[in-house]
Amino acid sequence: MPAAAEPADRLAESLLAFWADAGVDSMLLDEPVDRIAAGRIAPPRPPERKTAAAAAAAPSPARPSQPDVSGAVALARELAAKAETLEALAEAIAAFDGCPLKFEGAASQAVVYRGDPKAPLMVIGEGPGQDEDRQGKPFVGRAGQLLDRMLAAAGLTERVLITNTVFWRPPGNRTPTPAEQAVCAPFVERAIALVQPKLLLLAGGASAKAILKKEEGILSLRGRWFEWRSSDGSLELPALPTLHPAFLLRQPAAKKRAWADLLTLTERLDRQDRPA
Ligand code: URA
Repeated sequence: MPAAAEPADRLAESLLAFWADAGVDSMLLDEPVDRIAAGRIAPPRPPERKTAAAAAAAPSPARPSQPDVSGAVALARELAAKAETLEALAEAIAAFDGCPLKFEGAASQAVVYRGDPKAPLMVIGEGPGQDEDRQGKPFVGRAGQLLDRMLAAAGLTERVLITNTVFWRPPGNRTPTPAEQAVCAPFVERAIALVQPKLLLLAGGASAKAILKKEEGILSLRGRWFEWRSSDGSLELPALPTLHPAFLLRQPAAKKRAWADLLTLTERLDRQDRPA
């Protein structure tokens, strides 16, 4: 049986878990350490001087390969269009290599969706964090638990499908870039087409801006209805941006605004559900 952890070890463990939750995955000291002066790292060698003739003869260094965003978007669109069910779509996403996040941030797997595949409400967050990456489902960490509590309080638990604008964890939980979101967008759009929800709830600025193609910040977008349109114009849906639950964990005073958004959303959903 392993020895019981000492109180100081437990304190250190819980502090590390807290930092990991917050997305801290490397440690820095307050002041830089000169490891060369301390003799732990060899000093860098001065660059070799080339003669003009040698420089002219040398092949120019290969440019770092730029990710081919438009090629990746086209491939994503082609694969997404072939998926006839959400499970097939999730498999296509997991096999897709066109999003750089798959090789940068994700430690384990693609995170696609959770909830009812026929839900009338689709929540679209920003991107998976560490807990989501581990468990393979969106919004299962602290922010997700808050989201679940809010959805339950609004009576929406059984009426929702949850996904994200990108399907792999961005390194250090940074915001996904517009290029990463653009590459994943055909899959998000196909998920909307397969689920056919009545409304979209966009959690956080990175989701609202990417899905609605807006430049404004979330504090100005939240609580207002927008019309989302698919890229081929065949599908239109009302979409409501709201504050991200991770933001609400940091700024609990903002919860009342998110709650007001959820009530607005529930009221519209109920209105649409009522027979005419
Ligand atoms: N934040 C998000 O935007 N999505 C998740 O799945 C988890 C945290």
